[in-house]
Amino acid sequence: MNLTLRKANKSDSRFLFELRNEEEVRCVSRNTAPIAFSDHKKWFEKKLASSVSLILIAEENGTPIAQTRFDAKGQYAEVSVAVVSAFRGKGYGTKIIADATKLFFKKYTKVFAVRAYANLGNAASVKSFSRAGYRHLGEVDDEGTTRHLLVFERLN
Ligand SMILES: CC(C)(COP(=O)(O)OP(=O)(O)OC[C@H]1O[C@@H](n2cnc3c(N)ncnc32)[C@H](O)[C@@H]1OP(=O)(O)O)[C@@H](O)C(=O)NCCC(=O)NCCS
Repeated sequence: MNLTLRKANKSDSRFLFELRNEEEVRCVSRNTAPIAFSDHKKWFEKKLASSVSLILIAEENGTPIAQTRFDAKGQYAEVSVAVVSAFRGKGYGTKIIADATKLFFKKYTKVFAVRAYANLGNAASVKSFSRAGYRHLGEVDDEGTTRHLLVFERLN
């Protein structure tokens, strides 16, 4: 494993768009419908300009293989992660979540906890957040959807 993390920039737009539209990623997302590139472009520009969002790109030997995003709201932040399908189940998700969370806490010192919301049946997500130092907090219903989510939290 030769993994590095860096902040996303404009040139990552296509990579993030394709990853977001992968079927397994859509299935676990709030909005499960495919996203149009024009909508993604607008959304990504806003995120890049936002001081409360941090998107990190994970690279293996210089090639992007995953993304993780933190959205801060006051003292809390929400994290999401997606690994390119060919690289799943090899330990990358766990390592990326652990490293990215540390990096996020270093930059966002006012945030005291990061929370992750995993679909009930998403074993890979549950395993990787648990191994990356997150503890299971409880369960919630996702407002406006039929999803039942497990909540994980890691403190700063
Ligand atoms: C969730 C995700 C980020 C995890 O990354 P990853 O690189 O696959 O994670 P890891 O390899 O570190 O660990 C995954 C663990 O789950 C296991 N796993 C993977 N798929 C599984 C499945 N369908 N059922 C049961 N276990 C599964 C792996 O075998 C591994 O456990 P092991 O080491 O005991 O064998 C990745 O699978 C992904 O991008 N999924 C699609 C998007 C997503 O679900 N994001 C999370 C939203 S909160």
